[in-house]
Amino acid sequence: MKVLVTGGAGYIGSACVEHLIQEGHQVIVYDNLSEGHRDAIHPDAHFIHNDLASSIDLHGCFQKHNPEAVIHVAASALVGESMANPSKYFTNNVANAVNLLDAAVNHGIKKFVFSSTCATYGIPESLPMAESLPQLPINPYGESKLMFEKILLWYQKIHNVEPVIFRYFNAAGATPERGEHHRIETHLIPNILKVALGQSSECMIFGTDYDTQDGTCIRDYIHISDLAQAHIKALNPGIQGAFNLGNGGGYSVRQVVNACIEVTQRPIKIVELPRREGDPPILVANASKASNILRWSPGLTSIHSIISSAWDWHLKHPHGYLD
Ligand code: UFG
Repeated sequence: MKVLVTGGAGYIGSACVEHLIQEGHQVIVYDNLSEGHRDAIHPDAHFIHNDLASSIDLHGCFQKHNPEAVIHVAASALVGESMANPSKYFTNNVANAVNLLDAAVNHGIKKFVFSSTCATYGIPESLPMAESLPQLPINPYGESKLMFEKILLWYQKIHNVEPVIFRYFNAAGATPERGEHHRIETHLIPNILKVALGQSSECMIFGTDYDTQDGTCIRDYIHISDLAQAHIKALNPGIQGAFNLGNGGGYSVRQVVNACIEVTQRPIKIVELPRREGDPPILVANASKASNILRWSPGLTSIHSIISSAWDWHLKHPHGYLD
């Protein structure tokens, strides 16, 4: 298929593009490079350096390239930042996403795959988390993603869009070619690996008084290649609906630090700090719907293999992407 991938220069989007191209799809990357990197874009993808804020550019892109499906990954995606700057989240993740959706509908697109998040559930009332749980976000990031999920359902009713909504848990790891490089890094695993690389002196642990076994937050880490495979399956005819994408197992912040020490064989100094605002204590997926309907199951389930892939990439790219 000919697929338009927004955010295809970013961490998750660039891995999706890599796997789509490996599977024989034709890819157009639409990215403003605010978070993404030119060097992360697969050389066989057609790159359009534009912003989703511009409806004119979007219409031009659909007209010129005639994609058959859209995978919308581009977003602002930091829980902590969203608590400080909600406007950025509602503008990028809702208003700009509606621009994209309108352009897609005007050009007759049915298949619209959307990167949503487990942050739409807020503090889950039961674990592991199934799609049927109430969605009650506790930060503007989760709220912005939930708002666009709802907009998609209206467009499904009114414009016969076929939405596939992926609620990612914690994306992690790297392909041999593509890894995690945010200009300001806030994510746990790359921050720990920076200490192992000698680029930071210590790793911060945000909150040690949660109601978990060791007092730190628990997350479900899912490899970016596994996420990418789900997107490929989403393109199959008849697939619609919302799916959780996670491994179904959780690791605490301390467990992740220890796994990083084991993988890198380097010392990692930690400093314990108060909780970070907006962080739910435990997020772990029940991904059986994706397994039953999409026929998707993650391949890289151990935290050590996920961290290993990230470590290999960071060793090869100690300063991330150069452009
Ligand atoms: N953490 C630390 N120290 C750090 C960084 C993070 O202790 O230096 C903790 C956080 O407080 C949290 C956990 O590690 O408890 C994971 O934090 P990340 O920042 O790596 O990831 P988040 O869970 O906050 O958010 C990520 C993505 C979101 C996505 C979410 C799904 O950024 O887009 O996973 O859980 F929605």
